[in-house]
Amino acid sequence: MSDLFSQPLSPEQSRDLQRMQELAQALNEHNYRYYILAEPSISDYEFDMLLKELEALEKKHPELAAPDSPTKRVGGEVTKKFRTVKHRVPMLSLDNTYNMEDLSDFDRRVRETLMEDSVEYTCELKIDGVAISLVYENGLLTQAVTRGDGTQGDDVTANVKTIRSIPLKLRGEGWPALLEARGEIYMSSAVFLKLNEEKRAELEDKGFHEEEIAAQLLKNPRNATAGTLKQQDSKMVAARKLDAFIYFLLADSLPFASHFENLEQAREWGFHVNPETRKMQGIDAVKTFIEAWDSARHTLGYETDGIVVKVNSYAQQRSLGNTAKSPRWAVAYKYKAQSAATILESISYQVGRTGAVTPVANLRPVQLAGTTVKRASLHNADVMAQLDVRIGDTVFVEKGGEIIPKITGVDLSKRPEGTVPVGFIPNCPECGSPLVRTEGEAAFYCVNDRSCKPIVLGKLIHAVSKKALDINTLGERTLEEFYDKGMVRTLPDLYEIRYTQILQLDGYKELSAKNILQGIEASKAIPFERVLFALGIRYVGETVAKKLALGFKNMDALATADFEQLCSVDEIGEKIARSILDWFSREENCNLVERLKAHGLQFVLDDALLVKNSDKLAGLSVVISGVFSRSRDELKKLVEQNGGKNSSGVTKKTSFLLAGDKPGPDKVAKAQQLGVEIISEQEFLDRYNL
Ligand code: IVH
Repeated sequence: MSDLFSQPLSPEQSRDLQRMQELAQALNEHNYRYYILAEPSISDYEFDMLLKELEALEKKHPELAAPDSPTKRVGGEVTKKFRTVKHRVPMLSLDNTYNMEDLSDFDRRVRETLMEDSVEYTCELKIDGVAISLVYENGLLTQAVTRGDGTQGDDVTANVKTIRSIPLKLRGEGWPALLEARGEIYMSSAVFLKLNEEKRAELEDKGFHEEEIAAQLLKNPRNATAGTLKQQDSKMVAARKLDAFIYFLLADSLPFASHFENLEQAREWGFHVNPETRKMQGIDAVKTFIEAWDSARHTLGYETDGIVVKVNSYAQQRSLGNTAKSPRWAVAYKYKAQSAATILESISYQVGRTGAVTPVANLRPVQLAGTTVKRASLHNADVMAQLDVRIGDTVFVEKGGEIIPKITGVDLSKRPEGTVPVGFIPNCPECGSPLVRTEGEAAFYCVNDRSCKPIVLGKLIHAVSKKALDINTLGERTLEEFYDKGMVRTLPDLYEIRYTQILQLDGYKELSAKNILQGIEASKAIPFERVLFALGIRYVGETVAKKLALGFKNMDALATADFEQLCSVDEIGEKIARSILDWFSREENCNLVERLKAHGLQFVLDDALLVKNSDKLAGLSVVISGVFSRSRDELKKLVEQNGGKNSSGVTKKTSFLLAGDKPGPDKVAKAQQLGVEIISEQEFLDRYNL
């Protein structure tokens, strides 16, 4: 950095610096239009192009990159341990009310203290997320801290900086030199759903059972937000697309003497203030606002659980004061979970890719929280038995934090005569084979993985997916047609499909048939580790498949490995080892491998494919110490493959100490003493593009 000031810039540097400043300004403006005003004026593509141009210039001149550059939004900083920070002013919580009488009581207390007939209130949506305190010094975001226990919270600044609706630098003018903005970070329902869909697909690919999948899915957007904010790698946070609303400002002096007006001002400074915030005269207007949002809130695209009512004038807020826990000038009106009563018409059963059978209630359509509900999950046999739901019953459906409605109870007073308890079906609705329930699991499974359509098809879909055999000419529909026509049951069958067979299917012409066959043919070059992943062995996901391929080098060695040999491979635990042994103990699986081998698929590790050779680290001497996300051996190999040298002790000649969790204290002390740079795993990978 010092060079920048002590030496004049070269003509090239000054030209690039000017362009970088222009780009940063344009990107900030577009960000503001997009995230705060919701009025974008350029396309996402054009935005990305500007961002890429700035990134390229910053890479060329790291010394000229601004600390508050819009490129920082993509993350990169890693926080190992979140620092605890004490709030300047405690972050209070709100008193809750659940009905209009309690709300009238609140208003009466306020009016009596203030000796007023009617009070001006600000009404805000109560966002169901995670409270955050943002400190701006001279217009720059310097600290973001979670609420914690109200007195102190966690410093999550690096993560919060990736949230695009939180300004890194304030716009306009008139903001106080020291400003604390408080608000709520949240995840939109769409992002939440997508995240869970991706997680489910990933776990299904690894062969996880329904129960394990259910346990690992994010429960609701609030939990997802809290979990995201505590991620160590801010890149992960950036990828999750969080959002934020600001609802409280704290400073020695603010432009207006009231809350609503300052919030409007804050929007000019670049803060995302909820557009539905309104100023209301008197409690009756507040009640109208509350009633209007009771069902409308479900169409917002993010979760709200109530309305926050705040006395608008700061002078009045001061006269009312706070209790130890909450302000006397504000209250939260909490909505009741929305429920509706309707008739249970029938129960159907769905078989998933894992074989798990899920009961689904078919309901007489009913309006609930802004949508028509026709189906609700009954989860599993235990839940069904607990509820004792019977066909014809009047049931209560509710939408809680979860997006899919659930049945919460039965109105026994309305139970028709002659109903009988519903038992779980004994046979698979798809293939008729008897369902199996394993000890300790609530789900029933169809274990007929050789000829039950959803399971067989699910396996094939997994096998041709992008990260496996990547046969993109075979869509799910085509595979289903192949299945229905009896052309495929197992993966090797795909390699035996003939041109004329495809032409016999409806709507397939010469070109599409050729394409399909070409795609299948090309998959024969897919490397061993991906073929292994494609087999869909339980718990053998993408990473495990790679470790196994590296550890055993070929399929024969893997197929004959014993328990100890399997467990000795990095990251392979007992559960995975047992699953692999189990898979190879089945004759049909061994036949499957033999047939795939005969068709020419790769079952031997191609060393050349895995070894990355470069001179990126030429001349560098690296010391590795601590615990990393990958094994130390892997990191050492990476150093060597890229032309670097590993050494065990830190000396003057050491280029840097690559430190993971709990690095050797002697090594760290020596590095500090000698001025040897200490870098994290992520920094190392990023810096050298490894
Ligand atoms: S005001 C002293 N306004 O609700 C002011 N809080 O139960 C305290 N929340 O911790 C907060 N939306 O996490 C306020 N518009 C809003 C809010 C809001 C959500 C959350 C916040 C707070 C909790 C209090």
